[in-house]
Amino acid sequence: MKKRVFSGIQPTGNTHIGNYIGATSRWAAEQDIYDNIFCVVDLHAITERQDPKELKANTREVTGLLLAAGIDPKKSILFVQSHVHEHSELAWILNCYIPMGWLGRMTQYKEKSGKQKEQVSAGLFDYPALMAADILLYDTNVVPVGEDQKQHVELARDVAQRFNNFYGEVFTIPEPKIADVGARIMGLDDPNKKMSKSEEGPNHAIALLDPPDVIRKKIMRATTDSQTTVVFDEKRPGIYNLLTIYQIFTEKEKKQIEAEFAGKGYGDFKKALAEVVIEGLRPLQERYHKIMNEPGYLDSVLAEGAAKAHPLAQKTLAKVHKAVGLG
Ligand code: AMP
Ligand code: TRP
Repeated sequence: MKKRVFSGIQPTGNTHIGNYIGATSRWAAEQDIYDNIFCVVDLHAITERQDPKELKANTREVTGLLLAAGIDPKKSILFVQSHVHEHSELAWILNCYIPMGWLGRMTQYKEKSGKQKEQVSAGLFDYPALMAADILLYDTNVVPVGEDQKQHVELARDVAQRFNNFYGEVFTIPEPKIADVGARIMGLDDPNKKMSKSEEGPNHAIALLDPPDVIRKKIMRATTDSQTTVVFDEKRPGIYNLLTIYQIFTEKEKKQIEAEFAGKGYGDFKKALAEVVIEGLRPLQERYHKIMNEPGYLDSVLAEGAAKAHPLAQKTLAKVHKAVGLG
């Protein structure tokens, strides 16, 4: 029996190489090892204000990008969170088993609420309860995510354990799976900040659909430091981040990369990196445009995905209802 993988991505636009390196490319690469479920989490997206037309368009875009990254609907269930209403229902129930203190400690909440002040919604605070519901509905063993989501997966573990302590073995206890390299890609304009969809700066992130000239421009302008040698040194976060991206796209060893750029400067390295990223994304972009031009394909994939996910979710929710004494 293969282990069950579940992971999700928000349809908030500007999907970038951090999402691809830290999450979606790994989901695709490991599809044969696991029994996979991938979810476009539109209910998470509305914890912050979204334009309705854009939310719809971004849900399609992210689905197209997942397919283009190699998620194969024959091997993996791919669906939209709001199409399976059990996610909201289980989130409510879990809500009642999660102490406020746990939620208040979440780094992502502290960062986002710090920016939004009194506009912060109860949904943003409760975001990890919905994420726990996503994971626990499907008897998930493994949750592959970027470093930033580790704390949320641990909360899902904690609430599952707490619930099981009350009611017996209702939930499978999930585990986060974080990549050794590339689990936290940093912003090109500020290597001390995680690359994020919501940062405004024009040179902050490389979007998966950026054309070659835009990728070149962003990389050539990436913030480094006043040193010159092209070596992996964590104390030099700018060049370290760019080298990590190079390492991921070329699949070379660190030593090999350092040898390649011995005696060369940041300029030469950046030029090489830009070409590697452009060529690395080219097939993904081509597949994306092909998929989006195929009438009806996306809708049929998503309809089939929801039809497969729904009975699994129903079964778990029924167990939960019974355990709690609902209905
Ligand atoms: P999100 O866009 O927040 O829905 O994130 C989708 C996936 O991408 C999650 O698994 C994140 O942990 C991962 N991710 C987001 N930003 C980064 C980043 N800068 N580096 C690596 N992984 C990331
Ligand atoms: N919160 C995750 C993110 O922003 C997305 C997500 C929602 C998720 N539900 C999930 C990831 C369940 C893994 C498992 O990246």
